Amino acid sequence: MSKSFNTPDKVIYVCTGSKCKKKGGKDNGKALRSLIKEAGLKGSVEVVKTECTDRCDFAPVMSFQPENVWMHHVTEQQAKQAFEDKILKKTPPAEKF
Ligand code: FES
Repeated sequence: MSKSFNTPDKVIYVCTGSKCKKKGGKDNGKALRSLIKEAGLKGSVEVVKTECTDRCDFAPVMSFQPENVWMHHVTEQQAKQAFEDKILKKTPPAEKF
């Protein structure tokens, strides 16, 4: 029996390349995963860790897809706030950080 190929509605790409990881990227990812679980959104929203996105001067970096909202120098508090705004409240993606 094979597993079905499920895809989420939204993906939060969190860079965990060496620079972003050192500056909190890994912790941001963990915090976002917890929020997804708490909100009961597992399966529809997913955190995907990425390798370096070539924006190391702005570390840590993350983006919300499919809205294509990118954030840089993200603190854990900002990551949590963005989750609330972009995922829970579904704020339109016009705002870039
Ligand atoms: S390590 Fe994240 S942009 Fe390079």
